[in-house]
Amino acid sequence: MNKPDPIPFRNALGRFATGVTIVTTVDGDSEPVGVTASSFNSVSLDPPLVLWSLAKSAHSLPAFQNSGGFNVHVLAAHQSDVSNGFARPGENKFDGIDWTTCSQGFPLLPECAALFRCKTNFQYEGGDHIIFVGEVIDYEDHDLPALVFHSGKYAEARTKPFIDPDAEPDVDLNRGQFTENFLFYLLSRAHFQSSYPVRKAIYALGMSEREYFCLSLLSMSGALPSDEIQHRLEHTGHAPDQAIIDSLEKRGWVAKDGDNFQISPEGQKVFIRLLAQSKALEEQILKHFSEDELAQASAFLKKMIDVTGSDIPDLW
Ligand SMILES: Cc1cc2nc3c(=O)[nH]c(=O)nc-3n(C[C@H](O)[C@H](O)[C@H](O)COP(=O)(O)O)c2cc1C
Repeated sequence: MNKPDPIPFRNALGRFATGVTIVTTVDGDSEPVGVTASSFNSVSLDPPLVLWSLAKSAHSLPAFQNSGGFNVHVLAAHQSDVSNGFARPGENKFDGIDWTTCSQGFPLLPECAALFRCKTNFQYEGGDHIIFVGEVIDYEDHDLPALVFHSGKYAEARTKPFIDPDAEPDVDLNRGQFTENFLFYLLSRAHFQSSYPVRKAIYALGMSEREYFCLSLLSMSGALPSDEIQHRLEHTGHAPDQAIIDSLEKRGWVAKDGDNFQISPEGQKVFIRLLAQSKALEEQILKHFSEDELAQASAFLKKMIDVTGSDIPDLW
């Protein structure tokens, strides 16, 4: 192959997801030296060998070539700032870090997912890099989620769910049955269960779901004519008819202004109370989920709302 164009070549190499490490050692004055490296990999179990490569242009190269050893810190998911700090060329990378030294005198960083303390066994020329092969003399495993680097961005590792190819279909149309894996069932059940306490509070006020949807819309949109209220709530299947809007007006929760209806101060108070209950309930439930799960769930639900939007005529 001819010499590849550097940018597309780097992009293609970046498709290979790696962890992120900080490799540390000391220079000739026993000053700490460290560098961010994603080129780390395992080589051999017996003897225990690992490798990583460092650019010949790196300031830290002489230190790694002469110190006789290094410590590899596999970064945990919360340590992207540490990675950025050690990816800066030059000195002062240890400022503000609570580091200690190992028995070989090389820097040790706190809070990593794993640590490999190594003696440098071999150094190989590798084009514009030097490949260091280290024999592991000691290691630690802290069972923390690891930081991942993929396509030039930091990421977090998540175990791929196992999909059993021999599993029963989630819906059996011949028998009119479905299993707990039927996504629509899961979505509905999650909605009904999670919203049940708030729906009970709505019913306790003698308010129907149609009335609640109407108040919720008017609280956010301001004054609207009744046909617009109905149109905007059509996608819920709970659009209020004129009788419901009139009953909200009679109860003092909605006020009429010409052809428009708007939420009254009393209606606003009732709605804010219900909203506060919803928010408190949400906080309780969301404590059970990680940030990653919440970000995934939010992206999934937004896409589901988008895909099933009533403004996509072809779908319906
Ligand atoms: C996620 C990440 C991974 C990196 N991996 C390597 C690597 O494996 N080898 C390397 O030479 N540089 C790598 N770098 C770049 C070095 O960390 C960077 O050039 C650093 O400034 C070198 O420090 P120094 O010049 O003080 O030695 C990486 C940078 C980042 C952000």
